[in-house]
Amino acid sequence: MLSPEHAIGYYSVLGFEREPFSTSPDPEFFYHTCQHDMVLTNLLIELRLKRGLSVVFGDVGTGKTTLSRRLLHELNKRGDMIFHMILNPAFNNEAQFLNSLVRNFNIDCPGNDDLKNNDIMELRDSIEKFFIQKTLEENRTITLIVDEAQKLDLATLEALRVLLNFETNSHKLIQLVLLGQLELYAKVIHMSNFMDRISFKFTLNPLDVKETKELINFRIAKAGYRLDKNLFLDEAVSEIYNYSKGYPRKIIMICHKVLKELVMQDSMIVDRQLVMDVIHKEKQFSLALENENLAMMN
Ligand SMILES: Nc1ncnc2c1ncn2[C@@H]1O[C@H](COP(=O)(O)OP(=O)(O)O)[C@@H](O)[C@H]1O
Ligand SMILES: [Mg+2]
Repeated sequence: MLSPEHAIGYYSVLGFEREPFSTSPDPEFFYHTCQHDMVLTNLLIELRLKRGLSVVFGDVGTGKTTLSRRLLHELNKRGDMIFHMILNPAFNNEAQFLNSLVRNFNIDCPGNDDLKNNDIMELRDSIEKFFIQKTLEENRTITLIVDEAQKLDLATLEALRVLLNFETNSHKLIQLVLLGQLELYAKVIHMSNFMDRISFKFTLNPLDVKETKELINFRIAKAGYRLDKNLFLDEAVSEIYNYSKGYPRKIIMICHKVLKELVMQDSMIVDRQLVMDVIHKEKQFSLALENENLAMMN
């Protein structure tokens, strides 16, 4: 048994160059499952055709943020794109939202200097002028990506809808990509004039067992694992799948803990028993946490 300190650098002990199961949404570690790939391709087509509004729904941990980073990675490669991503769209009112666009797209606007322009018509005018200049005169594509879009309030959703009214005969002047949990669907379903404008929508689902195995193997290969033998036995993968139900976030989290445990136990192969031990500890830990919370509430 190795010390916990030793396990901190577990990935180098196991022959990795980098940490394979980091939870940051690194586009390098993006695994192209069929559905992730399909969504990405479609989003890029929508942007190229300037169709306006695309929406990606998905439960917590299905890979929306990772997908948006991958999209940014693609947009960065193109010279004609002007884009901005909102990570936490909690705006108090329309003026605040429009001001944030003015600031982030660097739009000339009267009153912009003190960032306190509350004249909605003036803000909209400046934004529209900017869209026209960039899109029609300079042939650029302006894209706004909103992650955690379920946090958008109705006023901001309505403001987004108004932005989509800026259009020519053939295309929209701004491209919107919203990524959000299923609550977003509940919000927009009643806004028929918003729903009508969605030109591409997709719901990300958890992975199946085959994709779970592929995701794990992709991550370890990407992190530099070069040994011939399978690090994760199939029986271990199927246990990970049962526990995670195919949610990438849970897969990554449990694999990280499994590899740490592997190093602590000084072994080289992940089998079912090891995964079961880690899951058992994980469940006990959650239970203890729950009890502690209950005790604090009483
Ligand atoms: N296609 C993918 N390839 C590799 N890792 C992924 C993929 N999708 C999700 N992940 C991993 O799963 C975790 C959760 O993904 P995230 O994008 O944060 O989900 P969401 O935003 O839907 O809650 C992240 O750690 C991410 O690295
Ligand atoms: Mg997210």
